[in-house]
Amino acid sequence: MTSLNKQKLFIKTWGCQMNVYDSARMADVLAPLGYEQTDDQRQADLIILNTCHIREKASEKLFSELGRLHDVQVDRVKEEGVNVMIAVGGCVAQAVGEEIARRAPYVGLIFGPQTYHQLPEMLARAAREGKVVLNTDFPVEPKFDFLPSAQGQRGSSAFLSVQEGCDRFCSYCVVPYTRGAEYSRPMADIVNDARELLRGGVKEITLLGQNVNAYHDEGSGKKLADVIEALASMPELLRLRYTTSHPLDMDEALIAAHRDVEKLMPFLHLPVQSGSDAILDAMNRKHTVGDYRHVVELLRSVQPKLALSSDFIVGFPGETDKDFEATMQIVRDITYVQAFSFIYSRRPGTPAAAMKNQIDEKVKKERLAELQKLLRDQQIAFNNQAVGQVMSVLLETPHPEKGHIFGRSPYMQAVRVKGCDPSQVGQEVQVQITCAFANSLAGDAVK
Ligand code: 5AD
Ligand code: SF4
Repeated sequence: MTSLNKQKLFIKTWGCQMNVYDSARMADVLAPLGYEQTDDQRQADLIILNTCHIREKASEKLFSELGRLHDVQVDRVKEEGVNVMIAVGGCVAQAVGEEIARRAPYVGLIFGPQTYHQLPEMLARAAREGKVVLNTDFPVEPKFDFLPSAQGQRGSSAFLSVQEGCDRFCSYCVVPYTRGAEYSRPMADIVNDARELLRGGVKEITLLGQNVNAYHDEGSGKKLADVIEALASMPELLRLRYTTSHPLDMDEALIAAHRDVEKLMPFLHLPVQSGSDAILDAMNRKHTVGDYRHVVELLRSVQPKLALSSDFIVGFPGETDKDFEATMQIVRDITYVQAFSFIYSRRPGTPAAAMKNQIDEKVKKERLAELQKLLRDQQIAFNNQAVGQVMSVLLETPHPEKGHIFGRSPYMQAVRVKGCDPSQVGQEVQVQITCAFANSLAGDAVK
């Protein structure tokens, strides 16, 4: 490995945890070339925009950001003689790469989500050729085989990617087209990565995948429950989570893991999207509301403390007032401690975009506001009932105020803990909760 002058790398990430994870891996791939991350984009020699295409206006947002960055690029050459390389990665690059090359010719590199392990070669080519390099093919070999394994400590909590892509083809969703077919990493690689993370001081691992509970190791036939069991047996690991799941892939062994594996936290993101069978059918979710309720019942029967979170889409084509009311009803019945809710957005190339019965924007907005109020009330009620309880909190990062540390409850609530020392980051401590807010809790460490 040659030693180079340190170059500064700035990565801006849009979208889901998968993209946050991908950005971290891009930084890993580039570190041996001498790239050091910076938070200041005006200092950067290389700027990567890691984009997300899941909802509307993604490309407009990208083009306005690119316009701003072009000004920075021009200023840096004039003022400092520095040539800033701008690269666009992720799902928007995959979907509209050619348009980016045409409209923003000052971009040096455009690369899809399946290609970032080739970043060093692609950057060298872009610098050498002085014209835009476009790489948005799906390579035959899975990218996981080429990536350096997980490195070092990223706080006390880390993501570990186990699965990528999705074969479910929900009718509104671009993921199967932009991220490609489902691919699961061999379990042995995941176990090695987990060991390395733990050696670096990580205490909590979140297993990550677009459809994580569809995980199946082709070679050994191992499923997600097996991965959970293997990781839970590592003594340094304190907590395990996984995200994001499809209700139909919640198999018996995974449900049983919520009973048997103490390190598996009692919080689960299990999207239902809609509370109406007609809409679920049109969404091609392939499950009914009854199926979802049944899975939740099974999960709660083995783990009564389980707290749930979900994704919702309102204003899907053909959604009537009655369908929307059914969504409100499932929220009332299940009760969520946290949730993401979205207005349906027409993604070109997906079956739902071609449906005739699109819903009026005003109606969509009203429905979203009503749903979000209910979800917010449930979140606040859940946070409020924590006051007075003693909870186990994993200390993650020092808080700017001295003597305070930021951590997380088993239910993913952010907790500001008083009475701890920064040396305790990475420990699980008992905390008496004294205050609740809409999005966080505060409390005192129990001596
Ligand atoms: N419109 C609105 N929301 C969408 N999602 C995915 N595609 C769309 C779309 N076209 C939401 C789903 C999914 C989450 C990650 O994003 O709720 O679970
Ligand atoms: Fe998209 Fe459906 Fe796959 Fe989730 S399960 S990534 S919503 S196609």
